[in-house]
Amino acid sequence: MSFLDLETQINGLDFENPVMLAAGILGTTGSSLKNVSNHGAGGLVTKTITKPPKKGHNGPVLLEANSSYLNAMGLPNPGASEFIEELKDLKDIKKPIIASVSGEKIEELKEVVSLLNDYVDGFEVNLSCPNVEGGIICKESSLVESYIIGARKETNKPIWAKLSPDIEEIDKKAKVAEKSGANAIVAINTVEGMEIDIKSGRPILSNKKGGISGEAINPIALKCVYDIYKAVEIPVIGVGGVYNWENAIKLIMAGSSAIQIGSGISKGLNIFEEVKKGIIEFLKKEGFNSIDEIKGISHRY
Ligand code: SIN
Repeated sequence: MSFLDLETQINGLDFENPVMLAAGILGTTGSSLKNVSNHGAGGLVTKTITKPPKKGHNGPVLLEANSSYLNAMGLPNPGASEFIEELKDLKDIKKPIIASVSGEKIEELKEVVSLLNDYVDGFEVNLSCPNVEGGIICKESSLVESYIIGARKETNKPIWAKLSPDIEEIDKKAKVAEKSGANAIVAINTVEGMEIDIKSGRPILSNKKGGISGEAINPIALKCVYDIYKAVEIPVIGVGGVYNWENAIKLIMAGSSAIQIGSGISKGLNIFEEVKKGIIEFLKKEGFNSIDEIKGISHRY
């Protein structure tokens, strides 16, 4: 690595920088993914794709409060076959494209992985969606094991396991994912929550409950990445509340090899360049040559 080059290798994939787009936002069409790429993201994770198309929940599905978001989208996506057409559009993008994938049953997940395998560089298995029945698959170690083993049967490409903060012993679930064949752990998905309208007493989201994102969840992500980093040998990719370069540096210091930005893009797509620039300036100022030199540094204390 040359001086202050942010190039990062994860599972043999070359990321020109470690600041990626997180699953769920701007990841359903080829043109929106291209747009994020043009704004400097080092890698792109798609919206979670299922086998059948999904309409998602009826509105309201999203609300903003106290600089946080609460969403219960319900995994709206065009379905795997239709999504391939969007991915074909991305052939000229020389950055890793990771498909976020899920399935109500393992067989569905396997079909999605098999269908998308020729069009992406790797898979992020969403074991942690709080907004669909049984979506927090990673609550059960046995399901973590069977979903990752199932996905592994369909691809030789990297498989990342995305975990929820709303489970017991996230470090142990990460270890199960690693033993089952996952090549990296992504932490965290949104934090379960709800909102109530005090005039009517009615839950505001049509799904009643949803997942919280936004800068407030950064400390929760830090704690999860910190615990997982100690438990596994494979890379950890930190996501949760990255609104500025400081949030990103903290995730790296907790043990992340790369970070993802989701709700932070509400600040504008320039966030990718701002976070990269901030990381470089921080490293220079503090006398470090690469992010590897600060990765997991918090574990020394
Ligand atoms: C959703 O589509 O409901 C959000 C996806 C997720 O949190 O995994």
